[in-house]
Amino acid sequence: MNVGILGIGNLGSSIINGLTQSDAGKIKLFVYDKNGNAISKVKEADRVNMVKSEEELYQNSDILFVAVKPLQVKSVLHKLSAGFAGKTVISAAAGVSLDFIKNNLTAPNIKIYRIMTNLGCEFNSAPILVAGDEPLDSTVQEVLGRLGKIYQVNEPLLNALTTIVGSGPALISYFLDSLVQYCKIIGLEGDSSREIVNMVALSTSDYLKYNRVTYEELIEKITTPGGVTLRVLHNMDKMSVKGRIVDSLIKGSHN
Ligand SMILES: NC(=O)c1ccc[n+]([C@@H]2O[C@H](COP(=O)([O-])OP(=O)(O)OC[C@H]3O[C@@H](n4cnc5c(N)ncnc54)[C@H](OP(=O)(O)O)[C@@H]3O)[C@@H](O)[C@H]2O)c1
Repeated sequence: MNVGILGIGNLGSSIINGLTQSDAGKIKLFVYDKNGNAISKVKEADRVNMVKSEEELYQNSDILFVAVKPLQVKSVLHKLSAGFAGKTVISAAAGVSLDFIKNNLTAPNIKIYRIMTNLGCEFNSAPILVAGDEPLDSTVQEVLGRLGKIYQVNEPLLNALTTIVGSGPALISYFLDSLVQYCKIIGLEGDSSREIVNMVALSTSDYLKYNRVTYEELIEKITTPGGVTLRVLHNMDKMSVKGRIVDSLIKGSHN
């Protein structure tokens, strides 16, 4: 099965790295970016075929991931000629609707799916939200399954979850960065602040993953009456930090 990836940017390179790191099996990867040096973002470049043009990519792909910026999608769709009929497009572009994709395709009989995922698909551990008018066929399922866990959702839900699934790593990094700022304020020097905060984040993620506890259960295990954690959380509650985060997510998802 030939899989093409158009755009070796932030997400495109993660998709490629995710697909090359899993057992490639029957998948042959073709990739293209208008910037020739974009291939340097691919960790195992010898496992992909870098083609020389969009047209060559489309000819060689049975399944095409479109990983260009939302405003760049239209011109890509216009270039999919009749030769692409019967093949599959998977668009990763945020906010570009299935209807928009359909209306801008000239070739007939193309299966269209939208996905929403994040840079973590590079480690085969990201949520992969999929929306499409047709049921997910087994080939697409096999390819997407190599990037993470598939959730078939309707399009409105995919749009609404973009702030969690797509933006999630940025939101979590924003929070972690505030912990780094605190470390610096109390006088921690050099890279230690970032290193310590990273270790806290990774060990928390490991604890949640391997002990299968909920966030509430973890908080309960860490807080003691009169202790420092409780005082910090109480102060955050007084400032409605959680409510403000939820408000920002709601506002963000409505543009
Ligand atoms: N980044 C994320 O975390 C994330 C998460 C979820 C979804 N997404 C979606 O994924 C898509 C890509 O985002 P990104 O952050 O990866 O963008 P990006 O870093 O700008 O990558 C897009 C790449 O595609 C190239 N490109 C554009 N048009 C092309 C064409 N016609 N032929 C060949 N190459 C072309 C771009 O080149 P130029 O820079 O020269 O234009 C760029 O190198 C977006 O639609 C976004 O909504 C991203």
